[in-house]
Amino acid sequence: MSYRLIRPLLFALDAERAHHLSIAALRMMPTPAPAPHDPMLASMVAGIAFPNPVGLAAGYDKEGRVAHKMYGLGFGFAELGTLTPLAQPGNPHPRLFRLVEDRAVINRFGFNNGGQGAAADRIARYRRPTGQGPVIGINIGANKDATDRVADYVTGVRCMAPLADYLTVNISSPNTPGLRALQDRAALDQLLGAVMAARGHDATPIFLKVAPDLEPADVDDIAAACLDHRIDALIVSNTTIGRPALRSAHARETGGLSGAPLHDLSLARLKDFRRLLGTRLPLIGVGGIANADQAYARIRAGASLVQLYSALVYEGPYLARRINAGLKVLMTRDGVANIADLVGVDA
Ligand code: FNR
Repeated sequence: MSYRLIRPLLFALDAERAHHLSIAALRMMPTPAPAPHDPMLASMVAGIAFPNPVGLAAGYDKEGRVAHKMYGLGFGFAELGTLTPLAQPGNPHPRLFRLVEDRAVINRFGFNNGGQGAAADRIARYRRPTGQGPVIGINIGANKDATDRVADYVTGVRCMAPLADYLTVNISSPNTPGLRALQDRAALDQLLGAVMAARGHDATPIFLKVAPDLEPADVDDIAAACLDHRIDALIVSNTTIGRPALRSAHARETGGLSGAPLHDLSLARLKDFRRLLGTRLPLIGVGGIANADQAYARIRAGASLVQLYSALVYEGPYLARRINAGLKVLMTRDGVANIADLVGVDA
């Protein structure tokens, strides 16, 4: 059935209920075959072979229930989580809002999840030998009540590294009080030092995910810390606590804003990091990407890969397939043989 027909039914439901329903529907549907290998879209980033550059951003499949289905829907990779060491309920309901007129979402989930141990058992079931299954990133965070947040990230690295193609250290959720303070230079040095030490001999690539709400000095500090600690890639960005002009009745809800109104801000931060880092560190562009033109522009601005979440709510589950098809049309038009040749050409 076309998503255009299903969408009004989903939008009639509370947003979190609709989210659970979409996960349940994906779990029930047969796993679609992944797209055949496409040399135009495939690239190596941080030592990992990505079949195409379009990834599912963290937060949709927090518990690792449907990553293999997302691969069949056209995503080149799926980032699971955020997962914390211990299960926690997150914030009280309601905590997820559709801003339909703005093509946006506000969430204040607060890392609701069943904990890393339970998710690990689940993820292990659909992981296949390297290079054959979906590329799986696992996004890790700290429990709200943790007395030692750095220790929670270290626990996350130890628990999830064996199951992940890469790990994402998420210090940019606005919904865990104080978490974003880990972006400050001294705290970041301590955290990244501990995390890189914890990954041990496996050397699972470690990505860092940052907020879009950064001052120029913060951008400088984060870029320097990533280089000092040899982080493998930087994800720009998480949701914003800013509120650009919005039309929806939910505009004043507390939480992180994502979707169309985040587009320009996350692109601007990506450009900031590219200017500072050049080609020394791969960047992953996230925020408001809803079509092939926007993905193409993000890659040209310096992103080796892109991710999306909010646009799925408005455009439906086959969006990644359409974006990949659109990227190929644009590449053919511009005479680009491989997606990697496009990264940063506008920078
Ligand atoms: C998120 N995002 C997110 N990010 C993260 O690192 N850990 C998380 O648990 C979540 N949870 C989450 C829930 C919901 C409902 C949304 C909409 C988003 C942020 C997400 O991964 C992404 O960075 C932003 O949403 C920006 O991309 P889009 O949504 O504009 O494509």
